Amino acid sequence: MTSTPQTDVVGSPQHISAEDPTWWRQAAVYQIYPRSFADANGDGIGDLQGIISRVPYLAELGIDAVWLSPFYPSALADGGYDVADYRDVDPRIGTLEEFDQMVAALHAEGIKVVVDIVPNHSSDEHVWFRQALAAGPGTPERERYIFRDGAGPDGSEPPTDWTSIFGGPAWTRVTEPDGTPGQWYLHLFAPEQPDFNWANPEVRADFLETLRFWSDRGVDGFRIDVAHALTKDLTDPLPSEAELDAIPRGEGQHPIWDRDEVHEIYAEWRKVFDSYDPPRTAVAEAWVERHRRPRYASAEGLGQAFEFDLLTQEFDAAAFKEVVVDSLTLAAESGSSSTWVLSNHDVVRHATRYGLPPLADQVGSTEQDQKQGAAWVLAGGPEDQLDREQGERRARAATLFELALPGSAYLYQGEELGLHEVGDIADDARQDPTFFRNPGVDKGRDGCRVPLPWARTGSSFGFGPGPAHLPQPQWFAEYSVEAQDGQQDSTLELYRSALRLRRQLQTAETLEWVDTGRDDVLAFRRPGGWVTVTNFGTAEAPLPAGEVLLTSAPLRDGQLPGEATAWIRQ
Ligand code: NOJ
Ligand code: CA
Repeated sequence: MTSTPQTDVVGSPQHISAEDPTWWRQAAVYQIYPRSFADANGDGIGDLQGIISRVPYLAELGIDAVWLSPFYPSALADGGYDVADYRDVDPRIGTLEEFDQMVAALHAEGIKVVVDIVPNHSSDEHVWFRQALAAGPGTPERERYIFRDGAGPDGSEPPTDWTSIFGGPAWTRVTEPDGTPGQWYLHLFAPEQPDFNWANPEVRADFLETLRFWSDRGVDGFRIDVAHALTKDLTDPLPSEAELDAIPRGEGQHPIWDRDEVHEIYAEWRKVFDSYDPPRTAVAEAWVERHRRPRYASAEGLGQAFEFDLLTQEFDAAAFKEVVVDSLTLAAESGSSSTWVLSNHDVVRHATRYGLPPLADQVGSTEQDQKQGAAWVLAGGPEDQLDREQGERRARAATLFELALPGSAYLYQGEELGLHEVGDIADDARQDPTFFRNPGVDKGRDGCRVPLPWARTGSSFGFGPGPAHLPQPQWFAEYSVEAQDGQQDSTLELYRSALRLRRQLQTAETLEWVDTGRDDVLAFRRPGGWVTVTNFGTAEAPLPAGEVLLTSAPLRDGQLPGEATAWIRQ
């Protein structure tokens, strides 16, 4: 790894005030994937006690909030995004009392808590879905989900030819209580994730109760899964897949995606959020056309929406600048702050993405891979395509670029270690439904969900006293917290320095671009004289005058090397 000059800045970090209702606007939010973060009891699955034991680590890292991916009871058909009970904790992960302890421990360090709400679908083990199966066709129980009779003379064909997001048909046939083959239900994702019927007031009321339940327990905010799919127009006759694909998605009238009336739901949720002091926050996971995002992010709606466009770009100055300019414009339009994401539990880790050839040149690359960010993983991760050092260099540069932008940054556990995607997980160890539903085509998302290495040694590199639920590669040892802690040139120390400085330097949510005279070098100035220079090229770049606060790679004769970022105070 490269060395990082550190500069001590006098003064203590400014903690976000506990009661500040705008805490989220420029927060650094750290995503915890609970089953893979820290395992206290050695059963191989990360748990709440594990998180509690690592609160000092999170505090030292300098994040403002954690977002927990689902920790609810679940059959784990989709890593917990198949929720069997929205108001409880998976007994393998902990208890509600431990959840309260965790919130208290995080709050004591000034760290806010955001939890994941999965409203588009439940688990097929949710009591409502079981009741729907038992009650039979035409009953109120079935009205909580989307059931239809099948096509064909005997109903043995699915109602439509729609494909689910995870591959395979989007309809599954049930067996009726009398044992005969029966109706079909819609699942945009896995068959174990039946879609709710949001036209049903019972569904709406139940989610309001869930939001209150967690808000009452002290949760500060919510991340809303698939926020753009809840309301659907499934009036007969249903369109075919080809017809569906031909309907524009950006006009609010598509039968499934991003319908205008979904915002009626969020207006109701907003009333709940605003009934708390400080108001609870929310961020939409909505893969919608850019011009449609502000509504999700508006103050009458969820308040913030993920900006994923940065993570689908190559490491390229023009591409990065365009996304930033657009995103800040959209944020201003909504009155919200912008959000930045380079990694999460659904995409290939950015250290790996940036170490691969451009997507278009990767083996087996398709347009669909754009979202995942790398065809490499789908192909099973052949190491000969990956330049690990280049990936890490660029990832460090991109991270400092991201953390200097106005708005909030969403970080994914392990990126502070510079972790790469794990490409070579054996097929029989994989868990992701996208792997099982696309045999031989898609390796799925397990590679970014491998349990964190905390120590150089041990049965699971310090993740827990036992083995880890997904196999960890040997190279995790040198990326472990233990290996990087206190090492000035490590990625972990870079994140710690950057997050500490960011708290001190963060001011108004604006930036001013600075002309660098080079197409491959971007520079911008924040109010207060915080200048960020990122060199996307390979030739060294001169730095503007000022005090160099932090760099992602050592300067060379006072110049910024290729694929590096510097923070300067003027
Ligand atoms: C988005 C989540 O981030 C992903 O992990 C999940 O598989 C789908 N939504 C379905 O809930
Ligand atoms: Ca455990």
